[in-house]
Amino acid sequence: MAVNAERFLADLHKLRSFGASGVGKGVVRPAYSEADIAARRWLAGRMEEAGLQVRFDPVGNLFGLAEGPSLLMGSHSDSQPEGGWLDGALGVIAALEVARSSDRPVSVVSFQDEEGRFGVTTGSAIWSGHLPLDQADGLADHAGIRFGAARTAMADLAGDFVDPGQFSGFVEMHIEQGPTLDTEDDQIGVVTDIVGIRDMKITFDGQQNHAGTTPMHLRRDAFQALSRFNSLINERFRNVVTPRTVWTIGHVSLHPNASSIVPGRAQFSMQWRDGDAGRLARMEEIIRQTAEEVAGDMGLEFGPLLGLEPVAMDDRLKAALEHGAEAMAPGRWRHMPSGALHDATNVSRLMPVAMLFVPSIGGISHDFAEDTDEADLVAGLKVLDKATQRL
Ligand code: GLV
Ligand code: MN
Ligand code: MN
Repeated sequence: MAVNAERFLADLHKLRSFGASGVGKGVVRPAYSEADIAARRWLAGRMEEAGLQVRFDPVGNLFGLAEGPSLLMGSHSDSQPEGGWLDGALGVIAALEVARSSDRPVSVVSFQDEEGRFGVTTGSAIWSGHLPLDQADGLADHAGIRFGAARTAMADLAGDFVDPGQFSGFVEMHIEQGPTLDTEDDQIGVVTDIVGIRDMKITFDGQQNHAGTTPMHLRRDAFQALSRFNSLINERFRNVVTPRTVWTIGHVSLHPNASSIVPGRAQFSMQWRDGDAGRLARMEEIIRQTAEEVAGDMGLEFGPLLGLEPVAMDDRLKAALEHGAEAMAPGRWRHMPSGALHDATNVSRLMPVAMLFVPSIGGISHDFAEDTDEADLVAGLKVLDKATQRL
């Protein structure tokens, strides 16, 4: 049976309705939110209708299992706090469509908290053994809620962890989330490797005080420390990084965050990514040294360092995707690295993995405006299906 493009697109739009933001095609469906759990329940029903055996594990990863040994496909259905309708969702619904139309045994997965409300690709990191469950349970989101508490929201659904031994490999389809395919007018990207990442929280603890009466030279202003830290690392990274290296301070919390109070505490996220593990380590040294230097006599705290190593895709699975790409988008596909993180990184600890990209319009993602031409979504689905037939 051939894949059904209309059914695939209808399910993709249905999934968007869980947590639809009201702005464009955006969604708000962070891990363990009401919308996320409702979406997972709906997905479980669609898996069952497709003849798959549904299984939720203790952290909310959702599997639809084919009978006997199978190829695993999927991605995640949680979103960023402001996310697009395709990030993760595309890989899950494409996997479902291939599973229900293919004569090959295909299992489907939607991993939990890929978007890192608590960690970095938390659900697949736990399943793969990269992140011990007791350690994960202690991780907190920006509001201070622990992973261990959040996952109890799905306790009524939880079964055992799924045995990875039944899967021969993992293929994840995803939007590119960057500008390359769109700019080059290519329709398909066959991923060669996924970058590595490091992520930690840093806190400067200064002295909260009156913004009118405290002379500048007597202040221990936590925001000024953060501002200096940012300028200094931008300068110091210059001798270390390549044009592909990226770093981001994406979340900042100032205490008490009031116009007339010298900020006593600044807590912020520091994230950096690169394809070279040595460079990630060198950047970490710079970050720690600079933070210590800037903090001076202020308090300084480094949170746990989370991370994933760079990984290469499996040659055999990649060749199947290349074959599919050449058949469905001749002359309009390319090899490319992934600068975004994916569950495939964790799954590569357990089995061979490969990934397939379709274009992101304007290279926009992690934003309500994220979108992809539906013709490209369907082209990706067909490449995935073609590759499956070859495996
Ligand atoms: C995953 O969404 C990432 O941050 O790359
Ligand atoms: Mn994603
Ligand atoms: Mn994402």
